[in-house]
Amino acid sequence: MPSPGDFQGPGAFERLLGWLRETDDSALQALWACADQVRREHVGDEVHLRGLVELSNHCVRGCTYCGIRAARGQLERYRMAHDEVLECAREARARGYGSMVLQAGEDDGLARDDITSLIRLIKAETDLAVTLSLGERDEQDWAAWREAGADRYLLRFETSDEQLFRRIHPPLGRRGGDRVGMLRRLRALGYEIGSGVMVGIPGQTWESLARDILLFAELDLDMIGVGPFLPHPDTPLGKAVRPQEPTQVPNTEHVVYRVVALARLVCPDANIPSTTALATVNKASGRQLGLARGANVVMPNLTPARYRSKYEIYPDKACTNETADAGHQALVAQLAAMGRRKGTGAGGRRRRAVLPE
Ligand code: 5AD
Repeated sequence: MPSPGDFQGPGAFERLLGWLRETDDSALQALWACADQVRREHVGDEVHLRGLVELSNHCVRGCTYCGIRAARGQLERYRMAHDEVLECAREARARGYGSMVLQAGEDDGLARDDITSLIRLIKAETDLAVTLSLGERDEQDWAAWREAGADRYLLRFETSDEQLFRRIHPPLGRRGGDRVGMLRRLRALGYEIGSGVMVGIPGQTWESLARDILLFAELDLDMIGVGPFLPHPDTPLGKAVRPQEPTQVPNTEHVVYRVVALARLVCPDANIPSTTALATVNKASGRQLGLARGANVVMPNLTPARYRSKYEIYPDKACTNETADAGHQALVAQLAAMGRRKGTGAGGRRRRAVLPE
């Protein structure tokens, strides 16, 4: 049976590598059981629901994996008005969610002051925690938004392999993409920080994925989001032929569960979502399996139906066509069937008190 202590100190990297490549079913059952137990001990049976609002699909970047990249000419672009976002915040409250996530492409049309006033409006009307996921921005933007009341910031580092990162995320002027440095600055500003990776990016090796997991621990992440890379046909990476080398990590749900379970073991009290990308590769049970193997958060999509299909970072995204209400009912039933319950409160990270030796 693995234990969290296996992934600290000498030998941690090799053990992570071993588990990432593990395919033996009975060994994996032990990994799932351990991740589930550590999840229960550290963050309990509550599943925190975060209402996701995809504010804008404008983006200045050219990430080679992403369906809303700037160069994708044929995509109709939108930017939500403040009252539309407030309507989503009310819906989140009405359903008993503790927080909402405002996500967008890296959209320079979302001015610092616009977001500042949006955060203030949400905070004036609700007690929701506000998480931002707006990409690489100036430090002054982040400072102003924090000052306005934003609680958390999500910025996936996508891969700890710097060369691979530059390949999939071409630098843009002086925005060089030092996401690890940015996460540290966000934390210094007082945000809870979330990050994570895609699993199975062409060119991603098992070794780099093991280093990704060590970096989760080193950054002491408050939130960790992991999903499979899903090729989008209108992107360079979606058209590329997939490398066949044995070093290439496959973009399957199976590897994602291993990363979720290992993330739980290296960061026992982090908030870990069972992601939409995971629910997309296995529509029947991806979400439940993520929750059973270490995850404790779900991010139901509250984006109004008229915009949802346009936020197409990858194709065939789960829940794109269901109404928010039907999705919510199904989710609550699913949690009950698993013996889990909807979280109460904002669902921030509760650090385990460090006991004196
Ligand atoms: N497949 C899987 N995940 C993707 N993301 C963006 N494009 C894709 C894709 N094609 C993920 C990235 C990003 C998050 C918002 O969505 O990890 O950080």
